[in-house]
Amino acid sequence: MARAARVLVLRRMDHANLLKTLEDDLGSAISRARFSPQLGDACRHAVLGGGKRVRPILLFESTRAAGGHLDDARFAATALELIHAFSLVHDDLPALDNDLVRRGLPTVHAKYGEALAILAGDALLALAFENAAQSPHSAGALLRELSSATMRMIDGQCLDTLGGFAAGTSLSEQLEFVHANKTGALFRCATALGGIAARADQDLIRALSTFGSALGLMFQIIDDIIDETQTTEHAGKATGKDRDAGKLTYPVVHGIPASRAEVGRLEQLAREALELVQSHNLGSIAGLSSILDRCVSRTN
Ligand code: IPE
Ligand code: IPE
Ligand code: MG
Ligand code: MG
Ligand code: MG
Repeated sequence: MARAARVLVLRRMDHANLLKTLEDDLGSAISRARFSPQLGDACRHAVLGGGKRVRPILLFESTRAAGGHLDDARFAATALELIHAFSLVHDDLPALDNDLVRRGLPTVHAKYGEALAILAGDALLALAFENAAQSPHSAGALLRELSSATMRMIDGQCLDTLGGFAAGTSLSEQLEFVHANKTGALFRCATALGGIAARADQDLIRALSTFGSALGLMFQIIDDIIDETQTTEHAGKATGKDRDAGKLTYPVVHGIPASRAEVGRLEQLAREALELVQSHNLGSIAGLSSILDRCVSRTN
């Protein structure tokens, strides 16, 4: 369906239709970039080969909770998922996590070689900002939020990969910093961008961001638990690697029971933030609440 024809119905869209719109927007963004065939193929493999789409859906549902128009959030949602895809392509590289399987398929470097994977990641990063800049309003604010979160994510990835904490930083502090940055930053960004797209006031953006931060930290702890408890087939990516690779994960530092307890604490924190969002009375928090439920119970 043409973009213009969707505008009228997007406001009431259910989860499946929202996902379909997002997938179409991601595909069009890559096509519009007119990359040479090999770069285009690598980008399409990185972006369109599955994935839960939790960050862009979180963005859309934040816009809905803030009473905004979902159409105003489309470029931002596409941009955020492109940043996430870039982060995964580079995360899987031999110099970082050296992974061969992602979403049940070969990683970009496994399929296309390392040079093209590096370049596809670079291309997706630039394409993300080009998309955010096309937002119908508040493009400057969206770009500032997106670039700041992307820098935080990269900083988290740097410390996750290379270490380099200031002397005297405890293991728990290191862990919290890495998780809050490498994963929490894009989740927080999703909720903030959703609020900005809805023209929400600062109080509401703060409440949404608190929700996103708690959800992001929780998401990475569960990812770390999945690494220790699930098979590669079920997870769609290599598992049982983090401990041997010397990664700073919640189960490694605190053990599985304490990691699950921390998930429970963050879930509670996220629910309290949702109540605050709801108190603004501008839209429904049902979509955000169901994302939280799905994230808590996910096993892949
Ligand atoms: C994987 O993110 C990287 C982490 C932050 C744990 P997702 O679990 O959202 O990956 P996809 O997009 O669904 O494959
Ligand atoms: C990656 O964390 C976070 C990113 C910013 C990509 P992980 O390295 O744990 O993610 P997976 O397990 O490879 O998906
Ligand atoms: Mg990693
Ligand atoms: Mg990894
Ligand atoms: Mg992981």
